[in-house]
Amino acid sequence: MQNSKDQLDDIFDNFLKRPKIFTDREVLRPDFIPNHLPHRDDQIHQIAKILAPVLDEERGSNIFIYGKTGTGKTAVVKYVLKRLISRGHEIGALIEDCYVNCRLVGTVYRVLLKLGESIDIKIPFTGLATSEVYDRFENALDNKGVLLLVVLDEIDALVKEYGDNLIYELTRVNETLNKGKVSIICISNDLLFKDLLDPRVISSLSEEEVVFRPYTAPELNDILFERADISFKDDVLTAGALNLCSALAAAEHGDARRALDLLRVAGELTERDGDAKVTEEHVRRAQKKIEEDRVVLVLKTLPIHSKLVLCSIYLMKRSKVKNAITGDVYEVYVELCNTLGLEFLTQRRISGLINELDITGILNARVVSLGRYGRTKKIRLAISNVVIKNVFSSDPWMNKIIDYVPKCLLNK
Ligand SMILES: Nc1ncnc2c1ncn2[C@@H]1O[C@H](COP(=O)(O)OP(=O)(O)O)[C@@H](O)[C@H]1O
Ligand SMILES: [Mg+2]
Repeated sequence: MQNSKDQLDDIFDNFLKRPKIFTDREVLRPDFIPNHLPHRDDQIHQIAKILAPVLDEERGSNIFIYGKTGTGKTAVVKYVLKRLISRGHEIGALIEDCYVNCRLVGTVYRVLLKLGESIDIKIPFTGLATSEVYDRFENALDNKGVLLLVVLDEIDALVKEYGDNLIYELTRVNETLNKGKVSIICISNDLLFKDLLDPRVISSLSEEEVVFRPYTAPELNDILFERADISFKDDVLTAGALNLCSALAAAEHGDARRALDLLRVAGELTERDGDAKVTEEHVRRAQKKIEEDRVVLVLKTLPIHSKLVLCSIYLMKRSKVKNAITGDVYEVYVELCNTLGLEFLTQRRISGLINELDITGILNARVVSLGRYGRTKKIRLAISNVVIKNVFSSDPWMNKIIDYVPKCLLNK
C-alpha cells in the first residue's frame, strides 16, 4: 500500500514538474476568434463597407461569401458582425444578428427555429408547416421593426439536401415587410455551389460577392505566429516546428484550421512526452495522429452497406486475394449480408459506394480494361488493416464478421 502511494506520488509529482507548454490552449481551438486576423484586411473592410448602412437601419446588400475550408470565412464574418452590432447598439440602432451553421443545425425547420429564437419568438420544435413558420417569423420581425442580419454558414450543406427554398423565401421577406428588414450573408465552402441555385436566388443573393483565397505558407506563418504568442509559453515553440505546420497546411490547400490543429496537437504530444520544446518531429507525429483520427471518424460514421463493402475488401486482403475486382467484392459482400440476415443492394449500388469510398481516400479504385469482357475496377485499401480491425471490432454489426472467412474465397 505504502509502495503504491509512493508510485502515485511520483506520477503526480512528475505531472506537476513537467515542462509547461501552453499558457492557454483554448486559443488554438477552431471556434476561438482572435482580435486580429492577419491577411484578411481586404475581406474585413469589404464586408464592413457593404454592411455599414445597417447602422442607419437601412438594409445592407446581401452577401455571398465563398472559399475553401479554413480560409477564415467564419472568423471574419463573426468578427465584423460583433463589431457592427456593438457599434449599432451604442447608437441605439434596432439591429440584431443571427448566426446559423446550417451543416450543424441540419434541417430547414431547425434553421427557422434559430431565426425565430434570435428575435425572441417561440416556435414549437415540430408540428408546424414551414409556411406557417415563415409567416410567424415575418410578422414578428415586422412588429418589432428590427433589421436582422442573418448569417447562413456552410449553406451548401443545406441546399444540397433541401434545395434553395429557404434562401429564396428569406430574400423575398423584404418585399412583404413594412418595418422589419433582413440582410442575408451566405457562406459556402463549395466553390461550385452557385450552380445548385435558381437564377432568381442567385441574383438577389449575390448582390455582393466576397472571395476568400487559400492562405500561402508565409501567410499561415504569420497567423500561427500571432496565435502561438498567446497560447504557448515563451521559447517552447521552435521556428522549425512553426514553419513546418505552415508548410504542411499550405501544401494541403492553405487551410488555417489544419495549421492550427497541427500546432495544438504537436504541443499536446510534446507535453505528454514531458519534452521541453516543440520540434519538427512533434509536428510530423501530430500530422500522423490527425490523419489517423480523421480516418477513424470516417470509418465510424459510414453507412452500414459501405462498412460491409469495406469489410469485404478487408477480408479479401486478409485471405491474400490479390487484385480485388468489383465483381468479387460484390460476391463477398452478398455473403456477408446473408450471414448477418440483411438485405443486400444491387451490384450497381455497390459500385457507387466503392466510388464514394475512393473519394474519401479510404480505398483506391482503378478502372482496368478486361478486353472484350468490358471494364472493371481493381480495388485496394488505402488504410491499414489494423485501423479497420480496431474500429470494426467495436461496431455492433461488423464485430460479428470481422474474423469471418467467406466461403466464396476458399477456391479463389
Ligand atoms: N486570418 C486569420 N487570422 C487568424 N486566425 C485565422 C485566420 N483565418 C482563419 N483563422 C483561424 O483558422 C481557423 C479556421 O478559420 P474559419 O474562419 O473557421 O475558416 P472557414 O470558415 O473558412 O472554414 C479558425 O480557428 C480561425 O480562427
Ligand atoms: Mg466556416
